[in-house]
Amino acid sequence: VARCSREPRRVITFGTFDLFHLGHLRLLQRARQLGDRLLVGVSSDELSTRKKLSNPVFAEFERMSIVRELRCVDEVFKEDSLELKEYYILHHKADVLVMGSDWSGRFDHIRSLCEVVYLPRTPGISTSEIRMKLSTAMERQQQNGT
Ligand code: CTP
Repeated sequence: VARCSREPRRVITFGTFDLFHLGHLRLLQRARQLGDRLLVGVSSDELSTRKKLSNPVFAEFERMSIVRELRCVDEVFKEDSLELKEYYILHHKADVLVMGSDWSGRFDHIRSLCEVVYLPRTPGISTSEIRMKLSTAMERQQQNGT
């Protein structure tokens, strides 16, 4: 039987993935569906703090360990700088860069290296929102003296 052999299509994406939630999972599952292998750059603690102006709750090794174990993820590496996107894409031989729609248009210049796809975010959930809800709940508890 003649086999149709083609190179596996490699999809790459990046993110902090702190307090891993359903929006993260949906993004990674949809990214994986665009190809055969999914490579995920998890932002280092330093980069996450620079991007989000607050320290992540989970350390980089914890965030990387969680993402690495997902069925839809094939490889995980640490992302040290936003300016290294082109390097990571070439190094990992990525065919498609997937970013959430919060980054729409920001990586169009990479289209000379690979396909660039922006996926819509899952509405109603984000790490910042979870952090805010938790700190409001804690403040209330303190005010009530419990
Ligand atoms: N993402 C998504 N839907 C959400 C939240 C995140 O599709 N509801 C995607 C982002 O677009 C990004 C990836 O998940 O491609 C990682 O996002 P990250 O910035 O780590 O998480 P957020 O929840 O967006 O964090 P924050 O609220 O701190 O910005």
